Amino acid sequence: MSKVSLYYKNVSAEVVGQEHGISQSQFAELAERVKPAIAAVNKRREQGKTPYRDLPYNKDYPTSVKQVASDIEGEYENFVVLGIGGSALGNIAVQSALNPYMYNIDSAQREKRPRLFVFDNVDPAQLASFLDWVGDRLEETIFNVISKSGRTAETASQFMTIRQLLIDKLGEDACKEHIIATTDAKEGTMRKIADDAGYRTLVVPDGVGGRFSVLSPVGLLSAAVCGIDIDGLLEGAGLMDKRVCGDDMFSNPAAMNAAVNWHYYNRGKPISVMMPYAYALKDFADWYRQLWAESLGKTVDVDGNEVFVGPTPVKALGTTDQHSQVQLYREGPNDKLFTFLQVEDFGSEINIGPAPDCAPELGYLDGAKMSKLINSEKAATEYALLHDKRPCLTVMFDKLDAVSVGEFIYLYEVTTSIAGELFKINTYNQPAVELGKEATFALMEREGYEELAKKIVPITKIDTDFLV
Ligand code: PA5
Repeated sequence: MSKVSLYYKNVSAEVVGQEHGISQSQFAELAERVKPAIAAVNKRREQGKTPYRDLPYNKDYPTSVKQVASDIEGEYENFVVLGIGGSALGNIAVQSALNPYMYNIDSAQREKRPRLFVFDNVDPAQLASFLDWVGDRLEETIFNVISKSGRTAETASQFMTIRQLLIDKLGEDACKEHIIATTDAKEGTMRKIADDAGYRTLVVPDGVGGRFSVLSPVGLLSAAVCGIDIDGLLEGAGLMDKRVCGDDMFSNPAAMNAAVNWHYYNRGKPISVMMPYAYALKDFADWYRQLWAESLGKTVDVDGNEVFVGPTPVKALGTTDQHSQVQLYREGPNDKLFTFLQVEDFGSEINIGPAPDCAPELGYLDGAKMSKLINSEKAATEYALLHDKRPCLTVMFDKLDAVSVGEFIYLYEVTTSIAGELFKINTYNQPAVELGKEATFALMEREGYEELAKKIVPITKIDTDFLV
């Protein structure tokens, strides 16, 4: 019995009506429409063009990750990831999903494992605060710099700052013991630096884009070091793989998910809200935002036509955002598809305390299970949205463990691949991100970018005539 499934009844016309729901005949049309997309995704895999698909079965990556994790076991109090985008979001999401909320704070909950910090920004106040704290703890801190290219300004600048700090405080020789580089096997700036300095290295697999890399050493090392069952993650992904290859949409959750999303995008609902009802899954909504946005937001289709396509992924959190977003979601424009993430067994339970005598109106909560409350709130929010004809999907987890998280990751990766075929775009590139990277080089006065700087400065320099 699989642990993760997709519930789609609440997008049907039967539930949300003909105008906003999917009728039987539209489901049948979608099932036909998605077949060639599934075939194309399967073919791409057979041709070796989507190597992320085979990560669940690769033995070398988990072996090398476990080797590094065991080499450093018990040696460090802090494990710090330096990376951004696909080199950070999966690490954060897996950690939040599978380790306790107080993991970093409570050594008992950590069970002798290091704290995990992930820096995916270049905010000087944020990093300075960390550097102040870590300055006297460098002996007990190890850094995992993750960058396929090594030329990403954010990761490079963090790395350069930390490297100098390590050299200054611990010396050149010790510095190299405190850095693990996860990067391209052969090429790139970080590979050159790592080989030159003699850092321990792990590989970012060839052809696996950052946003599809969480099940490679990119995401597996921090997970393994923090005690997460990486074999379970890969097992879950493998289990999901068996369910997302077949051409019958009604038994292929990735195909159903992609088809429903594509259908709504083309029918006035270009916004796709992911709303976990489990705090532990909140960072997976961030991971999903990148996967969906970078993969599906494209100017041109595969034939070179301008299409300016792409659903807008939005992150929300149940129950928190019931008190922030649901007013808009119910009464604002009906332009969204909602996907809830729901967990049956939270692994922990709280029986709510008794009501004070003066507040008998709170008696209904007295002794109730908190898991019942959160899942009732999910059902209640869904009911309210359906009442207003807002279509809803739910990804159901019977419990949160490494296997179900691996299933979820793979489900969404393949959903994205199939959706990319339906939208007829290149799912695996991100040309629009590159221009921003190059503009940063120009503004930071990197040699060779002078001409670009001349174009940027007149547009971005503050013109006080326009300041109110
Ligand atoms: O998904 C992607 O490809 C991007 O988000 C990259 O992961 C991100 O830009 C970081 O790139 P790099 O690993 O080269 O530093």
